[in-house]
Amino acid sequence: MKNFYQLLPKPFFALAPMDDVTDTVFRQIIVNLARPDYMLTEFVNVDGLMSSGRQNLESKLKFSVQEKPLIAQLWGKNPVNFFKVAQEIKAMNFNGIDLNMGCPDKTVVRNGCCSALINNRQLAKEIILATVDGANGLPVSVKTRLGFNEVDLSWHEFLLGLPIQLLTVHLRTKKDMSKVFARWDYINQIKKLRDQINPDILLVGNGDVDNKKTGHRLAQQYQVDGIMIGRGVLKNPLAFSKEADCWDQYSIIQKINLFKDHLNNFNRVYFDSVDSRLFKLFKFAKLYLNGFNGSSNLRQHIMAQKSIEAVNKILDDFIDNL
Ligand SMILES: Cc1cc2nc3c(=O)[nH]c(=O)nc-3n(C[C@H](O)[C@H](O)[C@H](O)COP(=O)(O)O)c2cc1C
Repeated sequence: MKNFYQLLPKPFFALAPMDDVTDTVFRQIIVNLARPDYMLTEFVNVDGLMSSGRQNLESKLKFSVQEKPLIAQLWGKNPVNFFKVAQEIKAMNFNGIDLNMGCPDKTVVRNGCCSALINNRQLAKEIILATVDGANGLPVSVKTRLGFNEVDLSWHEFLLGLPIQLLTVHLRTKKDMSKVFARWDYINQIKKLRDQINPDILLVGNGDVDNKKTGHRLAQQYQVDGIMIGRGVLKNPLAFSKEADCWDQYSIIQKINLFKDHLNNFNRVYFDSVDSRLFKLFKFAKLYLNGFNGSSNLRQHIMAQKSIEAVNKILDDFIDNL
């Protein structure tokens, strides 16, 4: 039987996993505005999920049916925990599992996880095999970078020899962080390796694609199967729509109402501790409350608030005074 990736029209478009950004609340906003072909959760630590600290991480796996197809992204160190969590992810009805082998965060790398696996292929292989085993038929993919300190295509050659269904390459090395432009030219060589080693593995390019229009151009130029968009949605939540500029045409009231939807859904999902998590919403203020007269003052005013009620009141007053 075909896995869901194989049924997608090409090129397909995915929302990138972004920690503290692409939670269930933001994903619902995105699907209601302009739906990507699939989305990923924030990265979730399997070793944490299998520890006494599990409760703190469970909210990262919340989702609603309208967000499907949805892929759970996992990271960690212990293959046994990958196996157990993969079993749970399957039981929770996710559409697939993605393994993070690209995060450049210092603490994560010092701990031997994510992009550190580029230099520890034995462990990378054990993690992939344990996950595939636990996933029991659910497609398993890897998201990685061009290399650790240097571009290292032997890493992709290695991954393409393993039983994964899809490979996403963020076209920078770990050392590049996000400081240089994504090096799209390298995707050609990775594609050649894919064609030689296992043409069934789908290849997704990622890095500096702001919207679907640019994505279509790159997919045609480089002949990749799919395109992943991350930070583009933090400038334009309609990044997955056909028209590149429709966010500019949103009225002030539409933008404020979107922010209110986000706030109130956030309140509904994280009702237990929402005011203490309020600071997490301020990055979204920059997204929705932008590009109109008074937006900068409005944002500053909102960021000084300590409760969701106070923020809602300020937004209502602003609309009343328009
Ligand atoms: C705030 C933020 C959080 C991120 N969190 C994750 C993550 O949890 N897992 C992951 O694989 N990549 C993560 N990334 C990397 C993105 O998925 C993506 O690879 C990167 O931003 C490049 O794509 P872009 O230029 O379209 O943003 C994160 C990026 C940002 C900006």
